[in-house]
Amino acid sequence: MRIALFGTGGMAQALGAHWSRHSLAVSGRDPGRATALARELGASALPWASAAEWADVVLLGLPVSALSVVTGLPLAGKVLIDCTNTPGDSDSLPPGTPVATRLAAAAPGALVVKAFNLAPVETWRMTPPLFEGRPLAVPLCGAPAAVDVVSELVRDVGCTPLPAGGLDRAALLEATAAFAIGLWRAGFDTRAAFVSG
Ligand SMILES: NC(=O)c1ccc[n+]([C@@H]2O[C@H](COP(=O)([O-])OP(=O)(O)OC[C@H]3O[C@@H](n4cnc5c(N)ncnc54)[C@H](OP(=O)(O)O)[C@@H]3O)[C@@H](O)[C@H]2O)c1
Repeated sequence: MRIALFGTGGMAQALGAHWSRHSLAVSGRDPGRATALARELGASALPWASAAEWADVVLLGLPVSALSVVTGLPLAGKVLIDCTNTPGDSDSLPPGTPVATRLAAAAPGALVVKAFNLAPVETWRMTPPLFEGRPLAVPLCGAPAAVDVVSELVRDVGCTPLPAGGLDRAALLEATAAFAIGLWRAGFDTRAAFVSG
């Protein structure tokens, strides 16, 4: 797969490191940082538009405030992974349209999949993210064909894909992240809240 990492921060670095069997490109607003991360990952540094044109899959590793980066890029038919959480990892959601829906509107024809937003970057740096001997499950919301593609990338991280419905359900993942972040900040063990069986 050809994967473009949009952003040069923690999420692009952590997830990109798991995807080394694929061809990677890095795009960022700071060319120096993009080149440095590309070198680290054995990738090429490309401008946004060239990377979008080249890629099969784009990881949007940018803050919500930077969604407009995708506007006008050739992303139709590409899988666009939305790992974003609300600004500043807020513990509440801003009113209005879910981010994943806004991203889909900004990139018409792109196959947006909400994924990787429920765990902190430290978890994505684990090789693999195992907890009590069990691989982390990664919920995915998007069109089934695109979810299949991202499921492969979830397995590359050493995690278990958890298809969780269409993009209309991405709002639930965004709300879950905001809720969990509030609990973490308050010092609670969120994993203990989601056990079953
Ligand atoms: N960190 C986590 O634990 C975590 C977990 C799950 C999901 N997420 C989500 O993943 C996304 C990326 O998070 P991160 O931790 O990787 O963030 P980060 O380390 O702060 O990196 C953010 C990247 O976005 C770039 N950027 C910021 N504003 C921009 C703009 N206006 N236009 C273009 N590029 C811009 C930054 O460029 P510069 O270096 O030039 O500033 C940097 O490359 C966020 O939406 C976050 O909510 C984060």
